[in-house]
Amino acid sequence: MTRQVIIPAGGMGERLGEALPKALVPLCGIPLLVRTLSAFLPLGLADTAVVTIPAGHESSIAALLEEAFPDNHITLVPGGVERQDSVRNALAALRSDTELVAIHDAARPFVTGDAVEASFEAAARVGAATVAVPAIDTILVSDGDGYLSETPDRSTVWYCQTPQTFQVAIIREAHETALRKSFQGTDDATLVRRCGQSVKLVRGDFTNLKVTTPTDMTIAETFIEKNLVCV
Ligand code: C5P
Repeated sequence: MTRQVIIPAGGMGERLGEALPKALVPLCGIPLLVRTLSAFLPLGLADTAVVTIPAGHESSIAALLEEAFPDNHITLVPGGVERQDSVRNALAALRSDTELVAIHDAARPFVTGDAVEASFEAAARVGAATVAVPAIDTILVSDGDGYLSETPDRSTVWYCQTPQTFQVAIIREAHETALRKSFQGTDDATLVRRCGQSVKLVRGDFTNLKVTTPTDMTIAETFIEKNLVCV
């Protein structure tokens, strides 16, 4: 099946506390977005990437990607107010013959080729898949007033990661439904599940960290320095 990748990189990364958008912040000398896109090079998928970018940074990101990936045509689309808006913009920019799309956050530079391939394989079979890892911590659900409401059975709880991979018609319908119902999610698999579609959980790696806070930057640098990740 024909495949493409969407890389949401349209956030400013406020929680990181840097002046630059997170995608441009260097991680051991290489901008986060370049590291993340590089993970798709050996799979031949960087050339298919649709990247969402924050307003005001179009030319700097275009120049960066031109320099880092001169042999690949990467499509840039404007980011939206929320991640979901960014992904919707990117879905509209997919090639007309694309059948499967993997949506992978720019903030996760250490995704492995195996995880990407496993998510594509599951999405081809089931329609929708997300990479995830079984929870280590017990998860507490708050009642909204700072009190414990419930404690889900830990053996059923997984931490969500990306890529989340879909048959294109399924993810497009899920985004249209979410827009119509004014539902805002923080990932795409949840939108698909809300339409009644099964989503396969594909077991990933704890090193597939989402770089969000300064502490995550330190952890990510340690992963690289200690050769815990392939980069
Ligand atoms: O904010 P969050 O951690 O969920 O962001 C995950 C990914 O979504 C990041 O790579 C970020 O750049 C991207 N994003 C986006 N457009 C937004 C907000 C976030 O593409 N408006």
